[in-house]
Amino acid sequence: MTRRLFFAYWPDECLRRSLESARNRLFPLAGRPVAVAGLHVTAAFLGAVNDTRLPALLALCGPVPPLTITLDRLEHWPRPRVLVAASTHLHDDLRLLVDGLWRRLDRLGFTREARPFRPHVTLARDVRSVRDGLPWEPLPWPVTRVALVESVSTPEGVVYRPLTAAGTPG
Ligand code: 2AM
Repeated sequence: MTRRLFFAYWPDECLRRSLESARNRLFPLAGRPVAVAGLHVTAAFLGAVNDTRLPALLALCGPVPPLTITLDRLEHWPRPRVLVAASTHLHDDLRLLVDGLWRRLDRLGFTREARPFRPHVTLARDVRSVRDGLPWEPLPWPVTRVALVESVSTPEGVVYRPLTAAGTPG
């Protein structure tokens, strides 16, 4: 069996509440908001992965040297049609952290995508355009660990589930 997997920085409840109120100030949005429970920053996208690889991938989860991602601006990305909160700069500490994760993934046979890493949280999808002047205050996102997350299609839409060491939804 395969699962659609990615590594992510997953917010704690306090940060999730801050994200929710920041996002609510953007409404009404010309698009489909991402469920608050699923907001995250992707560190490394893997795609469909066989379950046999789970133990090796779960071994890469856990604490990382602490750093802060500052989501300082809203951007509309017209091609994927998403509204994201993004970092203007990719700081060295985060770049090194993601590069280190990919070095270990590379040793496991996973291939990094060619497009450059842009730290962001996707707030809404199917966004064709955005009004000028949407309110956004720089939002600090403290990173202390990296999670392995499964993307699951449900009748209600895609949901994201962090996996525990047992390989089951946590
Ligand atoms: P997005 O938020 O910018 O859409 C689960 O799908 C997560 O993996 C999402 O955060 C998504 O980023 C990211 N993702 C999905 N497909 C991807 C791809 N082909 N390359 C990189 N990241 C992808």
